[in-house]
Amino acid sequence: MFESLPASAPDKILALNAAYREDPRSHKLDLGVGIYKDESGNTPIMRSVQTAQNRLLTEQKTKAYLGLDGDRIFNHLITQTALGEDYDTDRVRTMQTPGGSGALRILADVLSTARAHAGNRTDATIWVSDPTWANHAPILKAGGLTIKTYPYFDTKTGLVRFNAMMECLKKAPEGDIILLHGCCHNPTGANLTLEQWIELSKVLVSRNLFPFVDIAYQGFGDGLEEDVAGLRYLISQVPEMTIALSCSKNFGVYCDRVGAAIILSRNSAQASLAGSLMKSTARQNYSMPPNHGAATVRMILEDQELKTGWQQELESMRTRMLDLRTALTRALRLHSNSDQFDFLATQRGMFSRLPLSPDQIDWLRSEYGIYIIGDGRINIAGLPDNGPDGGLDKLALHIVNALNINIDR
Ligand code: LMR
Repeated sequence: MFESLPASAPDKILALNAAYREDPRSHKLDLGVGIYKDESGNTPIMRSVQTAQNRLLTEQKTKAYLGLDGDRIFNHLITQTALGEDYDTDRVRTMQTPGGSGALRILADVLSTARAHAGNRTDATIWVSDPTWANHAPILKAGGLTIKTYPYFDTKTGLVRFNAMMECLKKAPEGDIILLHGCCHNPTGANLTLEQWIELSKVLVSRNLFPFVDIAYQGFGDGLEEDVAGLRYLISQVPEMTIALSCSKNFGVYCDRVGAAIILSRNSAQASLAGSLMKSTARQNYSMPPNHGAATVRMILEDQELKTGWQQELESMRTRMLDLRTALTRALRLHSNSDQFDFLATQRGMFSRLPLSPDQIDWLRSEYGIYIIGDGRINIAGLPDNGPDGGLDKLALHIVNALNINIDR
């Protein structure tokens, strides 16, 4: 059966994570996979999540199946968190999914199926930013979409190439799907301003392009509400769109797999058709989503005291990442005697990209046990504090040294 199988290409983020775990050195540093870490390098369960799941264990009466669309109260509350209290329930359908990745895949399946029935045009092309999260293309392609890229990031300045992005999107064929990062762009940390979201919305509407927003880091950038200002503006302008949402990071429930697929349709009848298609797509894949993590999130969002506690914890995680950004920028400025890294301080979210070559990244790993994704992406939350051993300062020095050497192989 399997003798002719070609080897599967490993995912670069997860492969690096596996290599890090196998590295026996005690002074290794993981700046790879996107998980939040505290001052001690741990990823503890958030206090609000711990309280909610303890309560869940005592209060839960059954483990009977959920429906195909999961827990409807969770769906409503999480949709409110992203879209606002008064989102249009007539035109919106939400389905609980196994993580944000599950939402991406379900929505890709739904869009390619919908397009296959469209009659006039059956191909489904999605434009993703260059660069984008390493697993976007594999998931979306597996869901039947054809991938194209639009320019997004200027590696020299660390800024968004907004004009180039707009020029490209203005030429995209009508009806094409445009994938956007709701906030905290992964891997670059370079985000659209609200003014740019407004300009982008005009192009999407006038060119009849279909927005697909992936929002996995709400609350990690400028704040819970601030991070969705662009998305909320967009949704107020367009007739239809899809959103893949993840609770992995902002509730720290990575392994519980909690996410949501959200569809905004032109009217209630189309929303019901799209909602049914989401459910049958899930039924053909994994049937029903796991409950524990979503039930925990629901409990937090339903209980004002837990919700306030969660918001405060999230805010302290966000400000810790901001402080680390500022400290790294300062240390790099000092060691490089230049302002070439100042863009790091203006970026937001869990990631930024350093202008390191693959050889320089390999050198940092083999010499110092510093693990950075091959495209230069670093996890800001993984940066060490500048404790007594000057961890952050040493790291900045190693990075500057790596950039200054010509590695000869
Ligand atoms: C990341 O980008 O590192 C995270 O979203 C984890 C993952 O699954 O890749």
